[in-house]
Amino acid sequence: MENEIKMLISEEDVNKRIREIGEQISADYAGKELHVICILKGGVFFMCDLVKHITVPVTHDFMSVSSYGDKTVSSGRIKIIKDLDDSIEGKDVLIVEDIIDSGRTLHHLLQLLRARNPKSVRLCTLLDKPDRREIEVPVDYTGFSIPDLFVVGYGLDYAQHYRNLPYIGVIEG
Ligand code: IMP
Ligand code: MG
Repeated sequence: MENEIKMLISEEDVNKRIREIGEQISADYAGKELHVICILKGGVFFMCDLVKHITVPVTHDFMSVSSYGDKTVSSGRIKIIKDLDDSIEGKDVLIVEDIIDSGRTLHHLLQLLRARNPKSVRLCTLLDKPDRREIEVPVDYTGFSIPDLFVVGYGLDYAQHYRNLPYIGVIEG
């Protein structure tokens, strides 16, 4: 697959912002331990760089939910493809996601995870498209708010391609 990609957020700006969020999270969770839940696959690229800037003790788990398939329009249906390995009961949980669009994925996930009795749940997303929101979700940490564009790179895909781009871009043509 080869498309023209126009840069929206540079690698330098992404890295700088991730460092800032990591420092903020470290300050907010001072004296605590953090259980990071990464939403596969897109969130993994962000999570790996983010946790390097977190100075409190961190444990990790991964979850995979289906949302878009190979289309660029949300189906609105969400299915758990891979559940967590470990219990989150009594833990301070931080969900790490690549992007919040309609909010449906995170709304569903938050309900599901809160029912498992964590001590707390917060949400961290690299990107947010607030204009597209259909269901309100409480976002605690946002890398960048972006306009209503379909973006790729830094974990975000178009039909599974472009996740490995070190910057955030928009497909042209
Ligand atoms: P939501 O349930 O509509 O909030 O969808 C969130 C999911 O849709 C994200 O985790 C992404 O996997 C996908 N998604 C939303 N917008 C984009 C985009 O611009 N590029 C790539 N994936 C996107
Ligand atoms: Mg995703």
